[in-house]
Amino acid sequence: TARTRQEAEPMPYPTERPRRLRRTPAIRRLVAETRLHPRDLVLPMFVKESLTEPVPLQSMPGVLQHTRESLRRAAVEAVEAGIGGLMLFGIPTHRDAVGSAATDPDGILNVAMADLRAEVGAETVLMADLCLDEFTDHGHCGVLTASGAVDNDATLVRYQDMGLALSAAGADLVGTSGMMDGQVAAVRSALDGAGALDTGIFAYGAKYASAFYGPFREAVDSALQGDRRTYQQQPGNRREAAREVALDIAEGADLIMVKPAMSYLDVLADVARDPAVTVPVAAYQISGEYAMIEAAAANGWIDRDRAVMESLVSIKRAGAQIVLTYWAVSVARRLTAGE
Ligand code: PBG
Repeated sequence: TARTRQEAEPMPYPTERPRRLRRTPAIRRLVAETRLHPRDLVLPMFVKESLTEPVPLQSMPGVLQHTRESLRRAAVEAVEAGIGGLMLFGIPTHRDAVGSAATDPDGILNVAMADLRAEVGAETVLMADLCLDEFTDHGHCGVLTASGAVDNDATLVRYQDMGLALSAAGADLVGTSGMMDGQVAAVRSALDGAGALDTGIFAYGAKYASAFYGPFREAVDSALQGDRRTYQQQPGNRREAAREVALDIAEGADLIMVKPAMSYLDVLADVARDPAVTVPVAAYQISGEYAMIEAAAANGWIDRDRAVMESLVSIKRAGAQIVLTYWAVSVARRLTAGE
């Protein structure tokens, strides 16, 4: 009579049992491949001219447009939480075609940077967005030609002046985020020419024209009509990121950023693993990434705290050494508390 297979051979138990390393929280902690640390995190902050009270952002619950005074207080709290640095954005009262307020030493971004330098000294790394979109009345990242196109080379001159103003105000690093060709070289040569040799460039190497910047438009009261597709990269282009990053490094970038983060983790992994990329690699978890998780959590659809940590761990796992995130302070506190 035919015997069944089971009678013929004993059950072939697995010899490999990966679950052993998942059994207890202590074992899971020991074998964790990716760890977050408060120092990995950079907090983007918004300061708006002539505000008398901080203004909460509808689309980014928990994020504020600061007054100069509330910015100082929030910066001190961020430093106390142990984060790695601050990235400052300014919103001026007066906007014009060339973004004059960006290069005015009394402009909001420059005075707020000087405030922070005075307030926190050398206790953290102070960075500022080097871009014109918050300062132009048309909302583009550069100045325009007569026909309304973004004028690359005329914009570079504005970026040079902005780099000098931010350096004079006390920025450690300037974040070149405008995606103009040659912007890193232009800013570097201006800084060097002025003797600002210590001011570094945090280059947004790969930056995509993303719908996920949506809430940022509220955060900076953006005047933009249309989009940034003539200067930011199209979302489907992966190899092009390598070209953009290589150019920025050749031009003198001190750090490289990939932005947005979550929809571009493949790009981030490429950049982080590229042997030619020998500078620190960062990623920016942008406004829309923040807003999506907050909104889903507010509806009870996902566990906010777990989703936040998972999103940040994913960005580190993909290769970012530094992560810009609007959750930097709350996450730093949770990490310090041992989560
Ligand atoms: C340009 C800049 C933007 C962001 C950072 N720097 C806006 C844009 O490129 O349209 C977006 C950040 C975010 O969405 O959180 N000044």
